[in-house]
Amino acid sequence: MSRTPPKSFHVKSFGCQMNVYDGARMAELMQAEGMIEAGADEADLVLLNTCHIREKAAEKVYSDIGRLARRESGKPMIAVAGCVAQAEAAEIPKRAKAVDLVVGPQAYHRLPGLIADAVAGRQAVDTDMPAASKFDALPGRRAGAPSAFLTVQEGCDKFCTYCVVPYTRGAEVSRPWSAVMDEARALVDGGAREITLLGQNVNAWEGEDEKGRTRGLDGLIRALDALPGLKRIRYTTSHPNDMTQGLIAAHADVESLMPFLHLPVQAGSDRILKAMNRAHDVASYLRLIERVRAARPDIAISGDYIVGFPGESDADFEQTLAVVRKVGHAQAFSFKYSPRAGTPAATMADQIAPQVMDERLQRLQALLGEQQLAFNRATIGRTCEILIERSGKLPGQKLGKSPWLQSVLIDGGEIGDLVEVEIASAGPQSLIGERPRRAAA
Ligand code: 5AD
Ligand code: SF4
Repeated sequence: MSRTPPKSFHVKSFGCQMNVYDGARMAELMQAEGMIEAGADEADLVLLNTCHIREKAAEKVYSDIGRLARRESGKPMIAVAGCVAQAEAAEIPKRAKAVDLVVGPQAYHRLPGLIADAVAGRQAVDTDMPAASKFDALPGRRAGAPSAFLTVQEGCDKFCTYCVVPYTRGAEVSRPWSAVMDEARALVDGGAREITLLGQNVNAWEGEDEKGRTRGLDGLIRALDALPGLKRIRYTTSHPNDMTQGLIAAHADVESLMPFLHLPVQAGSDRILKAMNRAHDVASYLRLIERVRAARPDIAISGDYIVGFPGESDADFEQTLAVVRKVGHAQAFSFKYSPRAGTPAATMADQIAPQVMDERLQRLQALLGEQQLAFNRATIGRTCEILIERSGKLPGQKLGKSPWLQSVLIDGGEIGDLVEVEIASAGPQSLIGERPRRAAA
């Protein structure tokens, strides 16, 4: 049975920043095919760009599908993309009949052909991990927001025992130097003043520059620093074992590299880190943080923590709290361990009871919340630049990001402006900035 080709689309991304990036690229691809962006309530095609990292995230897609299937304005064509698509592939339309199309994270450049298949009533499932890069087949970047994402590296070879990423995103691959530089130039030409380089192991990025020299992420950052118009560079997510001296040094002397580092340690017990296959211990992580702080004393340290990994005792968990106290985070994410089918940890003995995980997560989040507030308060009275990204809730109010990735609210200013503000007050989630008096005079 054939159907009318969709004229409009809506992309809903879940999970990590790479999904946000992929979602933007899929939107650009559909725009290049002549489709227009629309709201979720009226679009002819709704694409759910899914996350598989924890069970809760993965299950959410099915409730969304159910809701779309019963949509008042009629059922749209439903596409499932992202990591659930990769992990569950043809199982998805079997479980949820309303799904018309499934496309994995390495195959989405083929979306137009898959939409045509779905229109023609053919099965449209593509979770290939082709050798050729999808990036080469995608249309160029369009003008966009002042702060842009740019994927430079994808996949992971680390195989932490809890994690699905090596299976859903595939092996570690770095995009070539010239592809990254070209895309960065296009983003800056389109209005980006800040670029966040993305990768599951972004600091493992490696490539050859124009002169054929092998460079790491620090080399790429130094080249991007020289791009006229690009004011700020960030990167995420990093693995402790790929944190080179060159990258640490870049934090000391590359002005556009923002003083922020997301460097997950995951747990504070060496025994648990070993069971997680993290290939680093607590002491080496803390030494690394010291070296980074020596290079850039005001750097904001972010991280990820998992509580309730199989076998985690009360004493192990206390060690996680101890690490958090030693690091002193500006912010950090924390999660209850979620067993994922196919990963080694899912079948390990001594899985932790849910109520124990709940209690540990609460204690950890209370501590991280205190640290975040303390970090924010410590910036009161400081003068810094913020990049205005969007309007705030109140009339005339704008929201920008500080160098330390805090949300700062100010009165006035234009989206895309870098403005100097003095931090006047601070809450746990956001700060209030004021134009310094001398600037107003
Ligand atoms: N359960 C809970 N948290 C997980 N993460 C990855 N896999 C799992 C899992 N199975 C967390 C890690 C990682 C972040 C992106 O998600 O902390 O750094
Ligand atoms: Fe997952 Fe570990 Fe790779 Fe991070 S380093 S993506 S947690 S396997």
